[in-house]
Amino acid sequence: MAIEKVAVIGGGTMGSGIAEVAAKSGCNTIVVEIDAGLAELAQKKLETSTEKAVTRGKISEEDREGLLGRLSFTTSFKDLEDRDLVIEAVVESPSVKADVFSTLDEIVQDSAILASNTSSISIGEIADSTERGEKVLGMHFFNPATIQPLVELISSEETSEETLQIVETFTRDVMGKHPIRTIDRAGFVVNRLLVPYLLQAMHMFDRGQATKEDIDAGMKFGCAHPQGPLELSDLIGLDTLQLVAEVLYEEFKEPTYAPPPILKRMVTAGHLGRKSGKGFYTYE
Ligand code: NAI
Repeated sequence: MAIEKVAVIGGGTMGSGIAEVAAKSGCNTIVVEIDAGLAELAQKKLETSTEKAVTRGKISEEDREGLLGRLSFTTSFKDLEDRDLVIEAVVESPSVKADVFSTLDEIVQDSAILASNTSSISIGEIADSTERGEKVLGMHFFNPATIQPLVELISSEETSEETLQIVETFTRDVMGKHPIRTIDRAGFVVNRLLVPYLLQAMHMFDRGQATKEDIDAGMKFGCAHPQGPLELSDLIGLDTLQLVAEVLYEEFKEPTYAPPPILKRMVTAGHLGRKSGKGFYTYE
C-alpha cells in the first residue's frame, strides 16, 4: 500500500513541522485544528517556515508553491475519510488522544494507518480506543521535525508487521527520515538513554562536583556533543524533562530515572530553562 494522502491532527509545534515534511515529500496533506483561528495560525506558521526555507536556499520558490498547494487546513474530521495515514500530534493527554483516535477510527477508510506522535503515552493504550489495533503505531518525530532526521516507530502488542513495514518504507523513502523500530516502553529508545544522562549531570552540579560550564564543556569537547547536558536540559525545558523523568520512573521504578531534588526545586520556582529565561543558565 502506497501512502499518498496524509492528515496531521494538531497544527502546533510538532504537527506543523510534520505536515511540512509530509507536504514537501509530495503527499496531499490535511491539517486538523480545534477551531478556525488555530487552523489559520497553523497555516501562517507553515507559510513563514517555508518562506524561511526559501531564504536559506533549502527549497526553491517553485517547490514552496507546490508544497503549499498540497496543504489544506480544516476543523472537521469528516474531511479525512480518504486518508492513507493519519498522524496525531495533539496535546499530551491520554483522554484527548483517546477521543481523537476513536473519532478517527469511525471516519477514516478501513485501510488507513493511525499513528501517534506521543512522547510518553503507551501506544497500546491509545490503540485500545480503536477497533484497528493492528494498524495503530507510534511515529515519534523530534523537534524541529523539519530538521531532525530521526523518527522512532513504536509498535504495541497488536501492531502488525505489515503496518510497520509500510510506515517504515514511507518514513525512509518518501519522507527522507531515518526510522528506528522499538517496542512500546516508556521513553522509547532516545529518552530512555538521554534522560538519565541529563539527570546525572544535574546531580553532579547539585553536589558541586564541577561548574555547569565545565560539565557542559566535558561533553562538548570530550565527546563531540553539540551541547552540554545542562544547556540541553534548558533547551528541552525543565518542566518537560521533569514530566518525562516521572513517566520513566513510574514505569521502571529505577532510581536512575527519578527527578533529582534540584530539578524539582527549579521547576517549582518557575525556572524552566530557555522558555522562562532562567534555568541552569540565564537567557535574555
Ligand atoms: P502543541 O501544544 O504545540 O500543539 C498541540 C496542538 O494540538 C495545538 O495547536 C492544539 O490546538 C491542537 N489540538 C488539541 N486538541 C486537538 C483536537 N482534538 N483536534 C485537533 N487539534 C487539537 O504541542 P506539541 O509540542 O506540538 O506536542 C504535540 C504532541 O507531540 C504531544 O503528544 C507531545 O508529547 C509530542 N511531542 C512533542 C515534542 C516537542 O518537542 N514539543 C517532541 C516529540 C513529540
